[in-house]
Amino acid sequence: MHQTIQIRRMRPSEGLAVGRLMKRVIQGCSIYNDKAKKSEVAKYSAAELKERIAVDPDAVLVAAAGRKVVGFCVNGRDDGLLLLEWYGVDPAWRQHGIGRQLLEKLIASARRRGSHKLWCDTHIANTGSAKLLCSLGFQPLCTLHNHWYGQDFVLWEKMVPRMAVVGDDENHSEVRRPQAMVRTLIRRAV
Ligand SMILES: CC(C)(COP(=O)(O)OP(=O)(O)OC[C@H]1O[C@@H](n2cnc3c(N)ncnc32)[C@H](O)[C@@H]1OP(=O)(O)O)[C@@H](O)C(=O)NCCC(=O)NCCS
Repeated sequence: MHQTIQIRRMRPSEGLAVGRLMKRVIQGCSIYNDKAKKSEVAKYSAAELKERIAVDPDAVLVAAAGRKVVGFCVNGRDDGLLLLEWYGVDPAWRQHGIGRQLLEKLIASARRRGSHKLWCDTHIANTGSAKLLCSLGFQPLCTLHNHWYGQDFVLWEKMVPRMAVVGDDENHSEVRRPQAMVRTLIRRAV
C-alpha cells in the first residue's frame, strides 16, 4: 500500500459511503451472530451518521485513501466518557496500521471533547481488536457473559492522558505539556 491515508472527520457527503463500508465490515464479521449483524447494520444508516456529525463533528472519523473511504470510527460523548462504538477497516486495506491510526485520532480528541475516559466492549473472540486496544493502553475490565445479542463481550477502559493535545482535528497532532508541568521542569533547570 503506497497511497497516503488521511485520518479525519467524516464529511456530510460521505454518509452513504461510510454506511456502506460499515455494512460490509459488520456483515463480514464471522464472530457475530446474525441477529447482531442485522441489528447493527440497520442502526448505522447514512442519515444516522450525518445526524451524529451534525451534533458532534468528531463522532465519525474516517480513513480516506484519496476519495475512497477505507476505514471508520464511530464514537460518542457519554456524560464525560467517550464511547468507542464501532471501528473497522475495509478488508483490502487491513494490516497497514489504519485501525491503529483511527483509534489514535480518537484518543487524541478525547481531552478536547471534555472526556476523562474512553470505554468500549469487544466480542470475546475478537483477538485482533483486543491486541490493538491493549497496545494503545486500554485495560480489559471483565467479561460480560450472555451480553449483547446473547454473546460474550469484554469490557475495556482507557484513562485519557493528562497531556493536552492541540491540532488534533488536523492530520497531525502536537502534544503540549500542561503549564504546571512546564513550570516544574523550568524550576528544576535553574
Ligand atoms: C480490527 C481492525 C479494525 C484492525 O484494523 P487494521 O487496520 O487491520 O489494524 P492495524 O493494521 O492498525 O493493526 C494494528 C494492530 O492491531 C493488531 N491486529 C490487527 N488485526 C489483527 C489480526 N487480524 N490478528 C491479530 N492482531 C491484529 C495487531 O497488534 C496490529 O499491530 P501489529 O501489526 O504491529 O502486530 C480490522 O481487523 C477490522 O475492521 N475488523 C473487523 C471489524 C472489527 O472487528 N472492529 C472492531 C470491533 S470492536
